[in-house]
Amino acid sequence: MFYVRVLVTGSTGYLGSALLLRLKDTEYKVKITSRNRPQDWQQFEWIYSDLVSGEGLEEAVKDVDVIIHAATSPMKNVKKVEIEGLRNLLSKIQHIQHFIYPSIVGIEEIPWKYYQLKLEAEELLSKSTVPYTIARATQFHGFVENLLLSKPLFNRYVIPGRWKVQSVDVHEFATHLIDLVNNGPKGRVEDYGGPEIMTIREMAEVKINAKKEKKTVFDVSLPGRLSKAFIDGKNTNINNQKGEVTFEQFLRNK
Ligand SMILES: NC(=O)c1ccc[n+]([C@@H]2O[C@H](COP(=O)([O-])OP(=O)(O)OC[C@H]3O[C@@H](n4cnc5c(N)ncnc54)[C@H](OP(=O)(O)O)[C@@H]3O)[C@@H](O)[C@H]2O)c1
Repeated sequence: MFYVRVLVTGSTGYLGSALLLRLKDTEYKVKITSRNRPQDWQQFEWIYSDLVSGEGLEEAVKDVDVIIHAATSPMKNVKKVEIEGLRNLLSKIQHIQHFIYPSIVGIEEIPWKYYQLKLEAEELLSKSTVPYTIARATQFHGFVENLLLSKPLFNRYVIPGRWKVQSVDVHEFATHLIDLVNNGPKGRVEDYGGPEIMTIREMAEVKINAKKEKKTVFDVSLPGRLSKAFIDGKNTNINNQKGEVTFEQFLRNK
């Protein structure tokens, strides 16, 4: 029997972990790679690799048909991982049938360095000879929660309350990416967004109600083009509400 061999990079990450949870019930032969070994996934072959040094990359991509590239580093070595790491990886995968790159909705209109590099990575991939799919998603529920609603200051969420987000459940997006494996390389596919567009203030209020917290909300108004892009909802796509799990359901299911 012939099994498609799928490599997941970034296997310890937020998206990587969600991918592994879904892939364990598929017939794909799964190989995983990251610098740290994910402890819960002993059933998958794990290879150490580092996108910055290049160590382990050849071993990781050997004998695989499809790569879901969930490795990233938004805060440290950003360009080295997103661009140079990708370039390095692409140079070693001429045998690959399909390279799937998760990206982010609205990046051309949001002046954040990480997003500009995601855009550059999309261009790099689209100019390469590797057959690819680029799948953009809106921010994940858990990412927004961790970033803005996990560390109250004196019992208050101090947040850019007017920023808009259409957050999506990471498991739904992981399922979408795995469905894309079967579809074959399609270039850039439709954006994948969450079910509702909310302000961060609304999300904070949902969290306070859902968790019966005794916190209040304090809006900060951040200056600059980056903040304006989020206030204008450039990171959302109302025409692509694909995910069904709301932020409130995500919080209640946690
Ligand atoms: N977070 C969101 O809201 C969101 C929304 C839409 C799309 N996306 C996209 O989804 C993808 C995954 O994001 P995420 O939030 O899951 O990221 P994450 O949780 O930060 O995970 C990043 C992964 O990359 C690995 N990594 C970091 N540096 C590395 C290096 N030098 N070499 C090899 N591996 C390295 C990390 O593992 P080790 O440290 O063990 O190496 C980790 O497994 C990204 O492309 C991101 O742009 C994210």
